[in-house]
Parts: sequence; C-alpha cells; structure tokens
Amino acid sequence: MSRIKRFGVSLEEELLISLDKLVKKHKFPSRSQAIRYLVRKNIVEDAWRDNKTVAGCIVLIYDHHKRELVNKSLDIQHKFGNSVLSAQHVHLDHHNCLEMIALKSKARRLQELADSLISLKGIKHGKLVMSGM
Ligand code: NI
Repeated sequence: MSRIKRFGVSLEEELLISLDKLVKKHKFPSRSQAIRYLVRKNIVEDAWRDNKTVAGCIVLIYDHHKRELVNKSLDIQHKFGNSVLSAQHVHLDHHNCLEMIALKSKARRLQELADSLISLKGIKHGKLVMSGM
C-alpha cells in the first residue's frame, strides 16, 4: 500500500456542492474516497482512449436455445483467444444464459471483441465493463 499524502484542495462552492452530492450518491465514506474514485476513473478512461493494455469484462445474456448464436460466440472468442482470460457460463433459468468473459488486451482489440459479441443476433443484453490494471 502506498503512503498516504495530504494536500489542500481549493474548489468553487458549486463544485464542492457537486462533490458532496457525488459522495452521497455513491455512498463514499469521505471526500477523499470520492476524489480517489474520480482520479482512477480518469486514468482508466485515458488508458482505454490511448489504446493501452487494459483489463475488462464482457457480460452477455442470451437465449440458451439459439444454438447458432452459441457457436458464433465461441468462434469469435477463439479468434480473440489471446485476449480472453476466462469465460464463465451460468444457466439462469430454462431459457436464459449469463456469460462473463474476463479479458486483457489492447483497449481497441477488446472493444472490437465486445462489439462483435454484443451485436450477435439473439443477444438480449451485452455490456463491456472497462477496467484498468
Ligand atoms: Ni446456459
């Protein structure tokens, strides 16, 4: 764990009100925790924009009975095999499957993989979660 450093921050009153609203909304224990969150969020967004190596996760919900979709999804995941760390499949109910695919690669490649999967016919919901490392 890094050493904690203290520093003073000067903010316009409206910005401070906005910060406190954010603290309340996200249930941060303190302003410091909210500022940590904002700084890290910014670092992650920059890493994705600059096509750095990043980690992420794709969540998919789809109809288990659409066999063609399952095959297509597997083909795409094979094609991007170097980027896929693991995939977990959960049978939600008789019709619905949930798949969580953990990824690590250059940001643009992960976006390309996510777009290919999420746009498949039969996907009910799909989302790429961007994360940093
Ligand atoms: Ni299933």
